[in-house]
Amino acid sequence: MTQILVTGGAGFLGSHLCDRLIANGNDVVCVDNYFTGSKENIRHLIGNPHFELMRHDVTFPLYVEVGQIYNLACPASPIHYQFDPVQTTKTSVHGAINMLGLAKRLKARILQASTSEVYGDPEVHPQTEDYWGRVNPIGIRSCYDEGKRCAETLFFDYWRQHKLEIKVIRIFNTYGPRMHPNDGRVVSNFIVQALKGEDITLYGDGQQTRSFCYVDDLIDGMVAMMNSDPAFVGPVNVGNPGEFTMLELAESVVRLTDSRSRMVFMPLPQDDPKRRQPNIEMAKKQLGWAPKVGLEDGLRETVAYFRKLLNTA
Ligand SMILES: NC(=O)c1ccc[n+]([C@@H]2O[C@H](COP(=O)([O-])OP(=O)(O)OC[C@H]3O[C@@H](n4cnc5c(N)ncnc54)[C@H](O)[C@@H]3O)[C@@H](O)[C@H]2O)c1
Repeated sequence: MTQILVTGGAGFLGSHLCDRLIANGNDVVCVDNYFTGSKENIRHLIGNPHFELMRHDVTFPLYVEVGQIYNLACPASPIHYQFDPVQTTKTSVHGAINMLGLAKRLKARILQASTSEVYGDPEVHPQTEDYWGRVNPIGIRSCYDEGKRCAETLFFDYWRQHKLEIKVIRIFNTYGPRMHPNDGRVVSNFIVQALKGEDITLYGDGQQTRSFCYVDDLIDGMVAMMNSDPAFVGPVNVGNPGEFTMLELAESVVRLTDSRSRMVFMPLPQDDPKRRQPNIEMAKKQLGWAPKVGLEDGLRETVAYFRKLLNTA
């Protein structure tokens, strides 16, 4: 049994990770300041002797005794990370410094939940890990993109300078139960709008593409990376290469929810990437990992979750 720290453990991905780690026979310390996460996501774990919950902001140092650290704390959707952009950068950068410092003291292995946003609005498609990205350093998304890029830098400097055991994954759009219902992310947006019978808002002409990974697949990849050969540090893309236009996604959601919602088109927000698709050859080769859940199956689970949440069953 390993003692494992999960920062951002009350969030969407973090709560699924806590579930998985406990199911695998570990003890989990979940740390969260509840900025975007919720106790509801982990309520079923409260009282479990293998689960410990701490309210803590990772921009402040933390002293706990653990053998592994998963660093997920950071608001992930534009609405949330743009709400207090200075705090977003602090969470990524000071959070990484604090967690890396803790890992160094404990000689613990540490994994960073980085993001496909480090590629910015990419000229290379699909994105491979050796692509350096095209990020606007002064735009409204920069607090997140540059914060995450700086966190990656810190991870690699701790690895080179202090021989820390690091792991960096670049997560591409992931969806599933426990997503925040109104954080503006496209999958949750469309499902909530469809279930409420509201207009479905598409930006631009709806032809921009995204690749969507179901949460169970993502957690498989994350845990496989943490437990991979110490010599393999990443960064490694984890996502589903299946590429869909926003219009196709909206049509699937309308079909699966039996909704009568109309689709309406709004102007594209600033710096919105037109295409985003992971190349996952490295994850396949190094981790033996590939996603298994197709979009329709994943959407069905997610729709069922939101139906219950919104009480529209
Ligand atoms: N979901 C995705 O598609 C996606 C894609 C790329 C990267 N990621 C990364 O994965 C991680 C988890 O994302 P998510 O989708 O679960 O988002 P989320 O917002 O549901 O989870 C983030 C969690 O971090 C907590 N948090 C935020 N600031 C904190 C702070 N200063 N101290 C302590 N806790 C703090 C929040 O309260 C929340 O519980 C994030 O680091 C995100 O950048 C997610």
